[in-house]
Amino acid sequence: MSTERTFIAIKPDGVQRGLVGPILSRFENRGYKLVAIKLMTPGKAHLEKHYADLAGKPFFPGLIEYMNSGPICAMVWEGRDAVKTGRVLLGATNPLASAPGTIRGDFAIDVGRNVCHGSDSVENAEKEIALWFKPEDLVSYKSAAFDWVYEKA
Ligand code: CDP
Ligand code: MG
Repeated sequence: MSTERTFIAIKPDGVQRGLVGPILSRFENRGYKLVAIKLMTPGKAHLEKHYADLAGKPFFPGLIEYMNSGPICAMVWEGRDAVKTGRVLLGATNPLASAPGTIRGDFAIDVGRNVCHGSDSVENAEKEIALWFKPEDLVSYKSAAFDWVYEKA
């Protein structure tokens, strides 16, 4: 199965710090395929929906303010085990606990400025992709690198 999809977002701090390129590269270099990307400021209501599961947490208002403070680079990446491996590429939620070599472990310090988001399950990835993208935003194509990345389809 090489068609699993995950929703990855570069948060406003990542965009403002010029980290769109370096973060994209981590996914490209690993062999994942970009199927959708857009820069957006979706507003509070959308962000509250995205983080609905965390609505009761004390950090929720600050999280929404942070996410609403500038443009977000929303993406969908596709490939084998994309959800779980995407989280590995991101690193731990708290950047101080993230291993060097991960995005948060290389580019962040505070949990409230951890530069990126990644879906935590296939089910949530599907929900998040549907929240952030229209079906026609997802581009269907065969990556020229496919047969060099995967031994078997
Ligand atoms: O983003 P991730 O799935 O790793 O973590 P989460 O538990 O789903 O939390 C979502 C986001 O809330 C984190 O990425 C942080 O930006 C923020 N957060 C925070 O500000 N303080 C915490 N103690 C926990 C999370
Ligand atoms: Mg999460």
